Amino acid sequence: MEITRDILIVDDDKQVREVLHQIFLTAGYNCRLAQDGREGVAMFRSARPPLTVTDLKMPNMTGIELLQQVRNVDQDAAVIVLTGAADVKTAIESLKLGAYDFIMKPVNVDELLIAADRALERRHLLIERREYQALLERRIEEATHHLAAAYRELESTYRATLEALGSALDTRDVGTESHSRRVHGYALATAREYGMPETELSDLAHGVLLHDIGKIGIPDAILLKPGPLTPDEWKTMRTHPDIGKRLIEKIPFLRGAIPIVYSHHEKWDGTGYPHGLQAEQIPVGARIFSVVDAFDAMTFDRPYSQAIAFDAAKAELKRCAGAHFDPEVVEAFLRVPESLLEEIRRRSVEP
Ligand SMILES: [Fe+2]
Repeated sequence: MEITRDILIVDDDKQVREVLHQIFLTAGYNCRLAQDGREGVAMFRSARPPLTVTDLKMPNMTGIELLQQVRNVDQDAAVIVLTGAADVKTAIESLKLGAYDFIMKPVNVDELLIAADRALERRHLLIERREYQALLERRIEEATHHLAAAYRELESTYRATLEALGSALDTRDVGTESHSRRVHGYALATAREYGMPETELSDLAHGVLLHDIGKIGIPDAILLKPGPLTPDEWKTMRTHPDIGKRLIEKIPFLRGAIPIVYSHHEKWDGTGYPHGLQAEQIPVGARIFSVVDAFDAMTFDRPYSQAIAFDAAKAELKRCAGAHFDPEVVEAFLRVPESLLEEIRRRSVEP
């Protein structure tokens, strides 16, 4: 930013005005002259000079009033007041009101020009600093904006990836279309009843959605076999939690889903797989999953089994509480309002 050397000189004494005019003209300033405060303010408004030199004692409007009005129009206006020896108190007051400097009369030319240069320099620095600050703030705001957009995009890509993985599984594992959606809804409702902290719910959701991801590694001949599996085929089938765990442990944002993927076939009484874990050794997400998964298996038609009513399924869960299922989780599930279960079920078949 170029420093413009425009000056407004305000003094009611014609002689003083002319002397000041000569001094600043010789120093290379473009000068405007006003004979009192009122005229000075009017000139200031139209020309906006960066620097104003004003007398204090003038008819119509004092230098102090002029100073205040000028600073109201431009908060950076550099104003130097000229004062007689009798007026030093007022001059000091003018500093409090924003004057850059005061010069005692009779004026020393060098002192006046140095003060004028300094005032312009200081004004220039102030404006530059403010502009720089504004620029920084704008940049930060822009960066924050970009970051938020990138984050939103990442999140939606991430969700889309999860859903794509989930539905890929659904299509391979015949007959379980929309099963993921229902189990996901039931699991969240149950977890809330159970008192799981909200911060753990997204790990639960991912685990539920991806619980069978390991089936990607099971050959079609076994996975899609219409009849019962041979003992060897079962052995292969039972490797899917381990395959799933190994698949997702390489993906940092899915790490929280591992306990469910790995332990979703464990049973409360220790008869499950892959490790035969018992009771609280089984991660809570996996305990919740097995209850809601069984509920959905019983209440939704599959090619190999007919659906039964909610009441009958709930009775069956109660019967198996303490054997297959964590009794506290079963109780939490039974507290989920039936209307919510119906709603989750209805939504799961919507396109
Ligand atoms: Fe499974």
